[in-house]
Amino acid sequence: MAYYLYIPKWLFLTGIIAMKYYCCVTAAAVARKGKVPAVIVFGDSSVDAGNNNQILTLLKSNFKPYGRDFSGSRPTGRFCNGRIPPDFISEGFGLKPAVPAYLDPMYDISDFATGVCFASAGTGYDNATSDVLNVIPLWKEVEYYKEYQNKLRAHLGDRKANRILRQALYLVSLGTNDFLENYYIFPRRQSQFTVEEYQDFLVGIARNFFTKLHSLGARKFSLTGVPPMGCLPLERATNIFGHNECEEKYNKVAAQFNAKLKNMVAKLNQELRGLRLVFTDSVYDIFYDMVKKPSSYGFEVVGVACCSTGTFEMSYLCSELNPFTCSDANKYLFWDAFHPTEKTNHIISSHLIPFLKQKFLN
Ligand SMILES: *[C@@H]1O[C@H](CO)[C@@H](O)[C@H](O)[C@H]1NC(C)=O
Repeated sequence: MAYYLYIPKWLFLTGIIAMKYYCCVTAAAVARKGKVPAVIVFGDSSVDAGNNNQILTLLKSNFKPYGRDFSGSRPTGRFCNGRIPPDFISEGFGLKPAVPAYLDPMYDISDFATGVCFASAGTGYDNATSDVLNVIPLWKEVEYYKEYQNKLRAHLGDRKANRILRQALYLVSLGTNDFLENYYIFPRRQSQFTVEEYQDFLVGIARNFFTKLHSLGARKFSLTGVPPMGCLPLERATNIFGHNECEEKYNKVAAQFNAKLKNMVAKLNQELRGLRLVFTDSVYDIFYDMVKKPSSYGFEVVGVACCSTGTFEMSYLCSELNPFTCSDANKYLFWDAFHPTEKTNHIISSHLIPFLKQKFLN
């Protein structure tokens, strides 16, 4: 008799333990899935928070008037009068209002645990692009990321660090410089590749980049393609025979390149287990819409930039001594000849944040 009594008792206990385990593991898994504990950034000047301040390059922006609308009127090395998209996105996910640059000595690993930027203005997918202005190549951004992983593990322990690295949202934005600073300026790549072949070459590098980061434990990515780069003030300024309208040839190359990136993204999501890589198509479209219908976004000027004459100046040429710089950057789509104003970055981010939340918080 005793024998029969014991069995249900044990089953009951086992059941409780199993149920408890099931309940809490599941609850934890749900909580984990719906969380973005950090924003980690790779790319070029569209997302660089100031890494170029610390390297030997001429491509810098850590002086006024850059940053004049940033918190504390502080030039940080962002190519903007204020904040850039990763800052707004980080804030949108309930994290810091500004993502710090990895090489900035003002910050350390405890700051970087909730967000870090490895981007470098002037870089591209192609090593030859980062060579032009001696900036950080994409492969080196990945090396810094590996170093960051080790520091984070030392700081928080393996378990906690690995969880952050897995659940973080990775923002990736580059490609414009490969075309405008490299392919269309220097003959080397043009003699090797047609522009279609060059696009494929870059997409191959992008593919390897995501595969590498996936193997290092990253999962959630947002990839931004290139903007309608023929509408950047610098390109308009050189479109003399086209009456300084957008250089549609470059816009076409941009759209074509974005389509190829999107295609690669769809394939990679099928191939790599657990990968959640989204391509943000809408950035090109919003950008183009702002250029074509500025007043519906509150802009008054889209053909030239706020800084100096607004046609070719950026970095050191966009200096505080220049008397032509506009007084209200909010009326302008572009801050310097190559980069959007904070207002433009804010509008783009406001479109992106609900999309990214829907993708990564569910
Ligand atoms: C870029 O340079 C790095 C370091 O030299 C190298 O490992 C990598 O293969 C290069 N990438 C391409 C696409 O050539």
